[in-house]
Amino acid sequence: SEKKVYRIAAIPGDGIGVDITEAAVKVLDKVAETNGTFSFTYTTFDWSSKAYLQRGYYMPDDWATQLRAHDAIYFGAVGWPDVPDHISLWQMILPIRQQMNQYVNVRPTRILRGTRAPVSQLQEKPGDLDWIIVRENSEGEYAGQGGTTHGHAENAVATELAIFTRVGIERIMRFAFETAKGRPRRKLTMVTKSNAQRHGMVLWDRVFYEVAKEYEGVVEHDKMLVDAMTVRMVNKPESMDTIVATNLHADILSDLAAALAGSIGIAPSSNLDPTRKNPSMFEPIHGSAPDIAGQGIANPVGAFWSAAEMVRWLGKGELDTVADQLMQAIENVTGEPKTRTRDMGGSAGTEEVTAAVCAEIGKVC
Ligand code: NAI
Ligand code: MG
Repeated sequence: SEKKVYRIAAIPGDGIGVDITEAAVKVLDKVAETNGTFSFTYTTFDWSSKAYLQRGYYMPDDWATQLRAHDAIYFGAVGWPDVPDHISLWQMILPIRQQMNQYVNVRPTRILRGTRAPVSQLQEKPGDLDWIIVRENSEGEYAGQGGTTHGHAENAVATELAIFTRVGIERIMRFAFETAKGRPRRKLTMVTKSNAQRHGMVLWDRVFYEVAKEYEGVVEHDKMLVDAMTVRMVNKPESMDTIVATNLHADILSDLAAALAGSIGIAPSSNLDPTRKNPSMFEPIHGSAPDIAGQGIANPVGAFWSAAEMVRWLGKGELDTVADQLMQAIENVTGEPKTRTRDMGGSAGTEEVTAAVCAEIGKVC
């Protein structure tokens, strides 16, 4: 029968984004070759801070049309010390998330084999941390509304407006309940700050409880203020499963989750358009890591895990086994001390880890 071909838009970006994207492509090709029923083609876009400094823009005017000609987007990282971070973020990653209608950002966290968790409870019982953070990815605190008056003079005024819409809240809550429903523990924790923020966050809470009624007896739910949530994540990780939070809150909590799980270098994220009208985007949660860029030591595991999530999404339920096998191959490699990168306490380089994962894929998949 005909091989299914998935068209991938690859945006390596800056710093270690380039190394880990290259590594992810090798692993994806190895998975496809081993499986034999599908393959990938790639269009690589040079949308980066380096390109911006040379030509004055990250993406050309027709960027959205170009991306829509693909089934998925694989993204490395963007940001470089020579360009203010709000420029790199607002000229690339945030417009993509918004215009491709990627209103969900899914961030799974668990402790992979061979990882050293910093908290003693998790060193003893790594299984206590097994979360999916569902981040609202289109509005909230990152809606982009606001302005500056009087530039940056003594009397400067700046506003940053958080936007919460009923439609935006309802769709993320529904996605979160569905995610929780598909997990063995069927438990959803909603994160808020409705004690201090009495408009947007109150609507957030209200819509959560409305949607919760549809899941009565199916998904257990509770509510946490974001500050108390940081404490619970450290002290009672086993008490949570699926977590739903706003754009800003989930951004912060997912970095904490990654640190609790041992390294920011292993955590993946999926930016999803659940309607599937636009390509979804897959990226590790870490940035361009200028401090280690160009040294060949970046941990590619977060990039591989993101690739596994991309395979899962593209397969619409038919490639779940393949994605699970890729995760098994990754964990076989992190489980071996000699194939761990420095951030995981080892001394292997990006290429060695990549070669080891490809070899494992040959055995496992
Ligand atoms: P970062 O994630 O790039 O680095 C934080 C620390 O973690 C650094 O010490 C780095 O060496 C380490 N680290 C990160 N990924 C690693 C990996 N795969 N293996 C080993 N160590 C790793 O965050 P930072 O330093 O705050 O930001 C650097 C740049 O990246 C900034 O310009 C920032 O705006 C951008 N950034 C971009 C993101 C994106 O493209 N989605 C996300 C986060 C930051
Ligand atoms: Mg972040």
